[in-house]
Amino acid sequence: MSKNVYLPYSATSEKAHVKSMEHYREMHNKSLESTAQFWSEIASQFHWETPYDINNFYSYNFDVTKGPVQVKWMEGATTNVCYNLLDKNVRNGMGDKVAFYWEGNDPEDYSKITYKKLLEEVCRFSNVLKSKGVVKGDRVAIYMPMIFEIVITMLSCARIGAVHSIVFAGFSSDSLAERMADCKCKVLVTADSVYRGDKLLNIKSLCDIAMDKAKNFGHEVSTCIVVRHLPRLYRSMNTSNGTNGSNSDIIDLHSDVPWTDGRDYWWHDEMDDVEPSCYPVWVSAEDPLFMLYTSGSTGKPKGVLHTTGGYLLYAATTFKYVFDYHPGDVYWCTADIGWITGHSYVVYGPLANGATSVIFEGTPFYPDNGRYWSVIEKYKVTQFYTAPTAIRALMKFGEEPVKKHNLDSLKVLGSVGEPINPEAWLWYYQHIGKERCSIADTFWQTETGGHVITPLPGCTPMKPGSASFPFFGVKPILLDESGKEIEGVGEGYLVFNKPWPGIMRTLFGNHERFQSVYFSKFPGYYCTGDGARRDEDGYFWVTGRVDDMLNVSGHLMSTAEVESVLTEHPDVSEAAVVSRPHPIKGECLYCFITPNHGVTFTPQLSSELVKKVRESIGPFAMPDVIQHAPGLPKTRSGKIMRRVLRKVAINDREVGDISTLADEHIVEELFKNRPEKS
Ligand code: WTA
Repeated sequence: MSKNVYLPYSATSEKAHVKSMEHYREMHNKSLESTAQFWSEIASQFHWETPYDINNFYSYNFDVTKGPVQVKWMEGATTNVCYNLLDKNVRNGMGDKVAFYWEGNDPEDYSKITYKKLLEEVCRFSNVLKSKGVVKGDRVAIYMPMIFEIVITMLSCARIGAVHSIVFAGFSSDSLAERMADCKCKVLVTADSVYRGDKLLNIKSLCDIAMDKAKNFGHEVSTCIVVRHLPRLYRSMNTSNGTNGSNSDIIDLHSDVPWTDGRDYWWHDEMDDVEPSCYPVWVSAEDPLFMLYTSGSTGKPKGVLHTTGGYLLYAATTFKYVFDYHPGDVYWCTADIGWITGHSYVVYGPLANGATSVIFEGTPFYPDNGRYWSVIEKYKVTQFYTAPTAIRALMKFGEEPVKKHNLDSLKVLGSVGEPINPEAWLWYYQHIGKERCSIADTFWQTETGGHVITPLPGCTPMKPGSASFPFFGVKPILLDESGKEIEGVGEGYLVFNKPWPGIMRTLFGNHERFQSVYFSKFPGYYCTGDGARRDEDGYFWVTGRVDDMLNVSGHLMSTAEVESVLTEHPDVSEAAVVSRPHPIKGECLYCFITPNHGVTFTPQLSSELVKKVRESIGPFAMPDVIQHAPGLPKTRSGKIMRRVLRKVAINDREVGDISTLADEHIVEELFKNRPEKS
């Protein structure tokens, strides 16, 4: 074994579900060799209204040349995910167990909800959705802050067989409109407003704009249900017991919420006198559970579709093993529910295991930079799951804010969203984990449904920066440019030739695109779009995207989608966007702009463009640099040579061979034009 390996802490290993690498290999081999046996043992812990057939447990085709790509697990079986997450746990005596602690943006706002209460609320809201005409298969869009109602809405959809389509509440009204029109949602569920730090965001106003814009795409949202969140915050400040009391105590500070009668309804009015019970709709294991948009390299977002049975098994199993979850633990994932991490590891995975988790509405920096550490101390969090960008941002403040808090409860620290640099890994390990915690650097994607390459706590010797080994049922393969499999040490395209239960099934309404994006480059393989290296000990190191996608603070986006927004500006002739390394965000957007003939590039144009991207996509997509480009480096066939632009962005004059450029002089011009200090 090479140097720089951190062995698991022995006290964790003793109690871990998987105690050694030998044990891991045994289970991993079984998952690949006796796949149906392995997963059916897990499936047997859940309720199936119509049982699955062990002899026909799964089927797939990954080879486009042999017919349509398809993946099916437990087809023919019926179940209900909500039933398995709530009713089953309540029946097993866990009704009074806390499902979620809620920690508001303001430390004075907090609350909790038990499994029994969550089930009751979900039943009530299921009845509300039914009363609005939502039936099995209908899509329900969700644009909400991190409050209990977002979980209630998701599970209500699952209960009645509707498909939720969450749009992260940091997306712009344009992005929301485009996604609502694409999924043709019948209902939109949202909230009046929310505080992020000391900033008030009026979410409902933004939804109104989005619903109007969706009409331009030919789609009308018939119903919008709105949670009155803000007055509740003011009320809890006054009563300071932090619980969500009865609706009657809500002070109406919000008569100015924009409203359309006949379309808009208050959540609390609708919930007032509905039945607190609702029989679950039994759906097929391959019926859709939810869809979630992710960026596509051609610009238009892709509606990744996940189905019922396989996703349930995979979210539940990865949660149990990757966080080494045991009853009594308090787990906290900081991801917003609007991303896949929030779906699988705030909601579905933890509830499937009957876990107690924290839902956090705020930011790591409010009211001070020790907020994460104070929440860990307050709830005695045992597993903490966050993103490298947050770790890097918090490292800046040194150890002082950390030292003020007791973090002894921690056992497992997770990382997700982008490669974690060894420096951040070590800081996390030493200062947060006090060298006693395992770090789970989890590699996965919206498309994979759950973790696919990850260490297991108490089991895997850790190498900072390596996601290490595949999860059960997963066999990573590296391919070279010609599609040949690379054995042993090497680097190439990270692909898979066999499905695990949680992999996506299609792109909503566009199976063609699903096949062409993921399965056409190398027939027979699912292509992740990432590159990876396997080292001499068999560890995988994900090296980053091999397509025109970039990852800003863990948010995946495509250069094409930003370019198309920039070129919409009337003064812009052409735009090219590249990624530049950033000390906190991981990567950031560096944009080259060629103005229209006769237009002068001014600081005002530059700030208009930044604003435009912010408003069209969302604040997280804000470009760091806008540079004037009198021309772009193009080959004679007109293709932009992006590697040259990446060199300009980092001010590295080693641009390599540029002899195929139509005009080589442009490269020098671009270096000259670099804005100062960037
Ligand atoms: C990147 C987030 C390296 C990768 C769960 C992937 C990572 C994309 C890691 C998916 C990791 C995520 N190490 N890279 N541990 N985790 N990525 O769909 O490029 O938002 O393809 O899912 O994030 O982003 P997505």
